[in-house]
Amino acid sequence: MKKYTIPLLSAFLCSFPLCHLMAQTLDESIGHKVDSLIALMTLEEKIGQLNLPAAGDFTTGLASSSDIAGKIKAGQVGGLFNIKTVDKIRDVQRVAVEESRLGIPLLFGMDVIHGYETIFPIPLGLSCSWDMDLIKKSAQMAAQEASADGINWTFSPMTDISRDPRWGRVSEGNGEDPYLAAQIAKAMVQGYQGEDLSLDHTIMACVKHFALYGAPEAGRDYNTVDMSRQRMYNEYFAPYKAAIDAGVGTVMTAFNEVEGIPASGNRWLMTDVLRDQWGFDGFVVTDYTAINEMIDHGVGDLKTVSSLALNAGVEMDMVGEGFLTTLEKSLEEGSITEAQINRACRLILTAKFKLGLFDDPYRYCNPERAKNEVFTAENRQFARQVAAQSFVLMKNEEKTLPLQKSGTIALVGPMADNAENMTGTWSVAGRFEESVSLMRGIQNAVGEGVKIVHARGANVVADSLLESRISIFGKPTYRDNRPEEVLIREALETVRQADVIVAAMGEAAEMSGESSSLSSIELPENQRRLLQELKKTGKPIVLVLFAGRPLAIKWESENIPAILNVWFGGSEAGDAIADVLFGDVNPSGKLTATFPQNTGQIPIYYNHKNTGRPLPEGEWFQKFRSNYLDIPNEPLYPFGYGLSYTEFEYGDLTLDSHELQGDQTLSASVSLTNKGGHDGAEVVQLYVRDLVGSITRPVKELKGFQKVFLKAGETIEVSFEIGREDLMFYNHSLEHVFEPGEFEIMIGGNSEDVVRQKINWKD
Ligand code: BGC
Repeated sequence: MKKYTIPLLSAFLCSFPLCHLMAQTLDESIGHKVDSLIALMTLEEKIGQLNLPAAGDFTTGLASSSDIAGKIKAGQVGGLFNIKTVDKIRDVQRVAVEESRLGIPLLFGMDVIHGYETIFPIPLGLSCSWDMDLIKKSAQMAAQEASADGINWTFSPMTDISRDPRWGRVSEGNGEDPYLAAQIAKAMVQGYQGEDLSLDHTIMACVKHFALYGAPEAGRDYNTVDMSRQRMYNEYFAPYKAAIDAGVGTVMTAFNEVEGIPASGNRWLMTDVLRDQWGFDGFVVTDYTAINEMIDHGVGDLKTVSSLALNAGVEMDMVGEGFLTTLEKSLEEGSITEAQINRACRLILTAKFKLGLFDDPYRYCNPERAKNEVFTAENRQFARQVAAQSFVLMKNEEKTLPLQKSGTIALVGPMADNAENMTGTWSVAGRFEESVSLMRGIQNAVGEGVKIVHARGANVVADSLLESRISIFGKPTYRDNRPEEVLIREALETVRQADVIVAAMGEAAEMSGESSSLSSIELPENQRRLLQELKKTGKPIVLVLFAGRPLAIKWESENIPAILNVWFGGSEAGDAIADVLFGDVNPSGKLTATFPQNTGQIPIYYNHKNTGRPLPEGEWFQKFRSNYLDIPNEPLYPFGYGLSYTEFEYGDLTLDSHELQGDQTLSASVSLTNKGGHDGAEVVQLYVRDLVGSITRPVKELKGFQKVFLKAGETIEVSFEIGREDLMFYNHSLEHVFEPGEFEIMIGGNSEDVVRQKINWKD
């Protein structure tokens, strides 16, 4: 058999400068090249392109002898993921381009979820910044670092809407709102992919997990999802679609079933919705072994489920090798066609062309870039800035915050001196031990003049077995095995000399994320006991709350004067927290997921339906109304909520019209005054309610927001333009429609405190 080396293949495929062609022509020219290449490929090689193994511990030394190396040489691998550093990636790429028959370069993927080595806040935290430029820039920076280190494909953004904080992966998403999550999905895709995928510093994005992964029953990861199509289209699909509209290169399937068919074998999802309705033209990769898992879902053996996936419209098989080992047989048996294999292969090769890998398979393997562009002082400085924007000030009684840089500060709690846990979940390339702990951040901020005393006071959780389950990926929690009372006594002794207590408590990094669901989201009991004892000292306490999910912190919110929710802020979290604690940065984060009163109130979300028996506003309980006997319907902290060191006052809502027709536009504005003594930013939120519809409509839906900065004492006018398209929704027949009638327009600083007016919009 003739061996095509990469120079030959390059000469054949890249005979003219692509960059001079228009986008349309570029696609066409790539199309021709892909067709020519496919014509050279054997069936086995084509199926090989659909195979995505995990690199595991595949290192340079093993490259020539490992099973994966053998498969790469045989043309049975389309890409690899979870392999890091330019040297290793170059080595593996060399095997692909020099030792396989056709020399087709590999894709190198990784979960670059919230930063590469420079880690930004977990996505849930990042979303609380409501700052699309900042979010886009964080993705850009992540792409720059990852591409400098050999990676050309990230499995991000994760845009699964979730209304269930028991689900551990709520930390990886952007909260509960489809509109906001859609804006974020777009910003992330643009940040990763830029204008041109073939540039050295851009990488291909992958929106996931399609679809509905954030709605598993009981919040248990991988569990069954069942919902109406109406709900899918109106409440869950928007962020995935926004990523597609922004040109995302790839889509990842979800582990769960949708309407009784596992997502990875669901043709309605992968073809009817994704391709036919939304016009997606990239390729679909499964989640990790998701094809094989269809066997346990109970829809067939490996051969059946693999052909099910291909028939559904899946192109690449992550890890499970169902495609690699069964598609030839299925083809012989006629359950799939060669045209389907060609189509899948074509889409994967097209992505490789777009990334520029055929021009230069080593384009992302530049050791100079790896040395100079990763985890730089500049990137870390930006991460510090981003982190401070993600924090949410939940409570600040009697101006406990900001703290003075004087006197003695007691730093207590399991997260006080815990660098490894600052980055949170899914920070695979992060340098955990080099993160800035809160202790270090406070030390850096206050200098010599302030005394800092420290005690752990409590373990993350009392149960050591539970603790071992929450440090499985190697982010240690630093257990102290002395009895609980001894730890508390030591803390009480330590805080005696302090003027203020900073309690760094909450979750450890791995209490959220994949396979980290919880049945109770209250603060672990031992930590709450410590807080209760600290409260008895009568000293001012600031709770710095670490969390990968909304927590049910009712007792804390009733008893602790100041609460700053810092999520997991990333590499520079410690400095960023100190920036906010001491008032160098005024907090402006707003919640993107509702905080419930207790775990039993879940699912709770602001954009709920009214029901036929709503509880009148302001009431606690009425018999035969939709409410609970033991708690009010209100959440502890609503969607959109967050305080500042300054105070913002909203004026009345002004509308330029109350009667609209057809394609007219409504202008809605409020005056906003910074009444307090600090400069600060406020996220002004626009909500609408469709008062009468052909299907029931939510009591509120976010339709716009603006993050504005006001100097102390300043007043500004904030205006929103609202068009008919903002009032559209999917009706019972899943048509996207505008229904004329009465609407309520609301503007406010969170989803509960709004000024409102009604309008009438005719056809
Ligand atoms: C996760 C994905 C991830 C993949 C590859 C899976 O377990 O669900 O989100 O991209 O692993 O690491």
